[in-house]
Amino acid sequence: MAIQAWFMQESDDDQRLPHHKNPPEFVSMEQLADLGVLYWYLDPNKYENDPELDNIRQTRGYSYTDLLDLRPEKVENYEQKLKNFYTEHIHADEEIRYCVEGCGYFDVRNNDDRWIRILIKPGDLIVLPAGIYHRFTLDTNNYIKLMRLFVGEPVWTPFNRPQEDHPARKDYIKGMIEKIGLEVH
Ligand code: LAC
Ligand code: NI
Repeated sequence: MAIQAWFMQESDDDQRLPHHKNPPEFVSMEQLADLGVLYWYLDPNKYENDPELDNIRQTRGYSYTDLLDLRPEKVENYEQKLKNFYTEHIHADEEIRYCVEGCGYFDVRNNDDRWIRILIKPGDLIVLPAGIYHRFTLDTNNYIKLMRLFVGEPVWTPFNRPQEDHPARKDYIKGMIEKIGLEVH
């Protein structure tokens, strides 16, 4: 299974829509990997007991997990939460999410500061590197069940853009420059 990702058409329409360009401009897994985004496809029916997931957790030190059930009936201040998730930010650590039900979009900025929209559906485990500008939204189904993973005690603090002096941002940029030798905006 491959992940689906595409460059976004900037618009003020509902954030839950796909926002494809016309014609659509897809982004490959390799392009995402170049930005430091990691991806695995797992069997979402086995998320409670999955040796493959255990293996990833062990290899990467993901000692912490919990489950986030995002839907209007379950979440207080749903619309406000959605707005917060959709505010462009970074974290000091990786953002690791495994979709077990429903779907949604993670948007990440590429090295030209363009938005790439990544569709997350059941079985998709995605790791956004520390310091990458990103945001999240549900789609028009308004439902996703996400496993959150973390190394040690979880810290979910978002740092809204701009964060050019944040150590995680500096490290990320440094890594990009070393890796691809490109100027990053
Ligand atoms: C976030 C939620 C979706 O951190 O897990 O953006
Ligand atoms: Ni985030």
